[in-house]
Amino acid sequence: MFERRDAVDPRGMRLTEKPIRRIERAVRLDGVAGSARDLVHRLLRRRRLKDALHGVWLGHPLHPALAQLALGSLLSASLIDLCGGRRRDSSRLIVVGLLATGPTAAAGWADFADGHEEQQRVGLVHAALNATAVGCYVGALGARARRSGRGRGRSVAGGVLAGTAAALGGHLSFRMASGANHAEEVQHIGPENWQPVGPVAELPLDQPVRRLIGEVPAFVLRRSVRDEGGETMVVLSDRCPHLSAPLHEGELSSVDCQPQVTCPWHGSVFRVSDGEVVHGPATAPVPRFDTRVRNGLLEAKVRTLPGVSAS
Ligand code: FES
Repeated sequence: MFERRDAVDPRGMRLTEKPIRRIERAVRLDGVAGSARDLVHRLLRRRRLKDALHGVWLGHPLHPALAQLALGSLLSASLIDLCGGRRRDSSRLIVVGLLATGPTAAAGWADFADGHEEQQRVGLVHAALNATAVGCYVGALGARARRSGRGRGRSVAGGVLAGTAAALGGHLSFRMASGANHAEEVQHIGPENWQPVGPVAELPLDQPVRRLIGEVPAFVLRRSVRDEGGETMVVLSDRCPHLSAPLHEGELSSVDCQPQVTCPWHGSVFRVSDGEVVHGPATAPVPRFDTRVRNGLLEAKVRTLPGVSAS
């Protein structure tokens, strides 16, 4: 795996960049992050549970979808309290937000455990802010139950913390591309016209190799089909949709005569025949290429979705 290099001159950074960059580079967080990562991997040994938390069944990361409910409810409660609204409305929203927090946090920890180190450092601070915000909201409910006047202030403090945590979550998603589909651009930059890949005879049998097709690194597999006594060609994008690992370095296996490839970085499993996700953390499939063989030469072009065109 590659260490993320800093390509930006710190003097030109914008207001929020410096503190966030500092978190990204805070190696002193690595001990705690590593322990948390190992614990999550131990707790999520059951692959079905881990896949469910990543959102493989949904075809989309689960954490950001659940976070809408938790964060939306909690921030709404804080705004009601800030504006002097009815306590009962705020308390109900806090209860809804806290109930949604459990599954949201579980999905977030599952994603955290399969991230780059920089992502894990930011994720750790994001989680710590959220945990403190939850403490504030629980404190607000407790204060109201005791008829103390501190509930409103605690709710507003929780909102500030939850909002800051959400901003860090946005940085993780949009700047650090955690949870993003790292193969999305293939649809747009992959060649729409047939491109030569290479002579079939030069491709090893049942051993994936990397080739460039236009500008796109591709996973190329010349696969023997034993039942039919022949062979078939498979060309997929070589970038894992999770975090861009080179899939041709992954391990090939076969389940029910269906070949699969396991990503070398975080163990996502994809069906070779069509690139579909079998196991996460990836939730998006690997883009496929159409193939044909002419005069012993393998050719490929990107298979675009209806309505999508390469630029
Ligand atoms: S890069 Fe993470 S599973 Fe492939």
